[in-house]
Order: sequence, then C-alpha cells, then structure tokens
Amino acid sequence: MHTDTTILHGYPMLDPVTGAASISKCQTSTFHQNDFPKAGQYTYTRFSNPTIHAAELAVMALEKAKYGIAYSSGMGAISATLLTLKSGDHIVLGKDIYGGTFQLIHDLMNNFGITYTQIDETDTEAWEKAIQENTKMFYLETPSNPLLKITDLQAVCQIAQKHHIISVCDNTFMTPLVQSPFELGCDVVIHSATKFLGGHSDIVMGIALTNDEKIAQNLEKNKRILGSCPGIEESWLLLRGIKTLAVRMEKACHNAQFLAENLQALDKVKQVYYPGLPTHDGFDINQKQAKNGGAVLSFELENAQQVEQLFHNVTIPIVAVSLGGVESILSYPWSMSHACMPESDRIKAGVTPTLIRLSCGIENPEDLLHDIKDSLM
Ligand SMILES: Cc1ncc(COP(=O)(O)O)c(C=O)c1O
Repeated sequence: MHTDTTILHGYPMLDPVTGAASISKCQTSTFHQNDFPKAGQYTYTRFSNPTIHAAELAVMALEKAKYGIAYSSGMGAISATLLTLKSGDHIVLGKDIYGGTFQLIHDLMNNFGITYTQIDETDTEAWEKAIQENTKMFYLETPSNPLLKITDLQAVCQIAQKHHIISVCDNTFMTPLVQSPFELGCDVVIHSATKFLGGHSDIVMGIALTNDEKIAQNLEKNKRILGSCPGIEESWLLLRGIKTLAVRMEKACHNAQFLAENLQALDKVKQVYYPGLPTHDGFDINQKQAKNGGAVLSFELENAQQVEQLFHNVTIPIVAVSLGGVESILSYPWSMSHACMPESDRIKAGVTPTLIRLSCGIENPEDLLHDIKDSLM
C-alpha cells in the first residue's frame, strides 16, 4: 500500500461500534469495569482512551512502528523519552536543536545528574568521538531547527547500534511521508503533532514511537507518571488532520523548494538554508534519506531593519511561533523558538538576529514570493 493510501486506510478509521466515518470522541475520564477485579482494556484516560489510541494507531501506521504513545505536546513526548535515562547517563546531541529540547536537557536533566555533549551534527565522526563510557542516547533532528542541518541518519544510527546506544530522531520537520527514520536504523521517533501531522495550527500534541518493547514500556510508564496524556478533542483533530497529510505535504514541500530557489536570487537575502538546494551542505545525504527538502526553510537577511520591515509588511504568512500549518508561518528564531537558549549559545549555534524561518503552507507559491519580495522593498 502506498503511503497516501495508508493515510486513509492503513489503520482503523471507522468507528468500531457505529461504523461512523469518523472515530468518535470518547469524552470520558474513566471507564466502568465490567469484569472487576479483572481490568478492562481502558481504565482511566490518563493511561489510555479509545480516541487517543486511534490517533496513536494512525501515526504508528505511517511510521510503520509497533508502538506509539501519544502525549499532551511534542515536549511531553521528548520529556518522556529523555526521562527513560537515569542519573549518571550521558547524551550526545547536535548543536542546532529545537530551543525547548535544549532547555530541557541543559536546565532540567542536568539537575538530575544527566550530562550531555553537543557536537556538529553534520560531522558523522563527531558523534562517535563524543561517546563516553556512560553515553546512553544519541538525540538528533534532521533537518535541524532552525538551520536545516543534515545528519547522516543511517551512519549515525549504525554507530549508536555498535555502542548499544539508543538513537532518537525528532522527525517533526519531515513527517513520515518524507523521511522514515526507522528504516535507517533509528530506535525512537518523535513528533510534535502540533505541526505537520495536525496541520491546521489548532492542536498541541506529541507522539513517541518505537519498535522496541522495553523502550515502549518505559515511554508508556513515563506518560502515566508524568500525567502528560493528550486531550480527546486534540486526538480527534489529529486523526482528522492526518487524512490530508499527503496532499498538504506535497504542496507545502513544493512551495518550499520554489521559495528557496527564488529567495536565494534576491539581493537582500544573504543566505538560504534549505536541504532541497544543491548548494545546501548535506544536500546529497538528504537526497539519500528523504524524499525531498521538506516544507521549512530559513534565510538570513542583511540587517535588523530588513527583519523589522519584513515582519511588519508581510500579509500572507502569519507572524508566529510554530510551523506545519496549512497557512505559511514566518518565525523569528532569535526571540521565538530559540529565545530560551542563552544568547551566546544562540550565536554559537548560528541562530542570529537576522535569521528568519519560514514554514511553507499550501498557498500559491508565486503569491508567497511576491509578498516577501514586496515586503523587503
Ligand atoms: C522540531 C521540534 N520538536 C519539538 C517541538 C516541541 O513541540 P510542542 O510545541 O508540540 O511541544 C517543536 C516546537 O516547535 C519543534 O520545532
């Protein structure tokens, strides 16, 4: 079955009781236990719920994963995953990473005796060199946020396997339609379902997936203990959003490629970061491991005045935190997604005050380009 069919038919998409074309919202916190003292399939919504489970099955089908555990946000999924580690463990991660993930590792995990080393994620050897006796996890994003740096997933996962290290990939930017980290040897795949999976900027939700039973048990246990289960409405909206993921991603990725190619021709744009451009560092690796460059790009303007001008004048993209909506979203990593990183770390990572991130929606690409061009005039 091709993925665009899996998206609609590769998991239970009819309501099992009524046959309704949409899974019902099971709006309950608890479940009557018919066979007391034997527990039924569902006992309490913080543990599981039919609507939440239906959403988990949908993403599991797309990522071809045996286990999928949904959370109240992408950060919920990331926290539950990182908290499978123990005091004394060590993580290796890239320098260019979502600010919230960095903050969690730097500010919180450190308090519990979990240390980390940040490396240049594009340098495969650097992953191996950073391994210590107590390294238990490689945490990666490819493309990374916000500079779209590319890690050779297969090579890095092989290193992880060789050293019995768990490899975790945040696949939010690519979605299972563009990149399949499990096929490249990854142990855990994470999504902020808030973004492309939901696709309409109307939910906050996350999911962690794996094919390893032991890891799945720990992820499930952490969700229950941390109380980070998603809402019923969000799970239902995710199910609905997923049905159009293939058409949305195709258009959004096409728009990103078009904009990246055209923005780099503008005088005021110093540099464009997009894995679909042959000039992008890591283009060949991305070609090998992903179907295209994705729907997110970043670009560098010349000065602060141009940045202000762009954000004030654009009329099509919304100016906002987040990405992955049907509407294009123009963000300013310096004060938005990466504001929680110390200034010196932002600069070190290349997150400068003139960097703009654009998540392409499904509008007409010419209109988007003209809007950005006109805004910079
Ligand atoms: C790559 C990536 N991972 C995780 C997250 C966190 O997701 P959420 O906001 O759903 O907690 C984000 C948020 O922007 C992100 O960009």
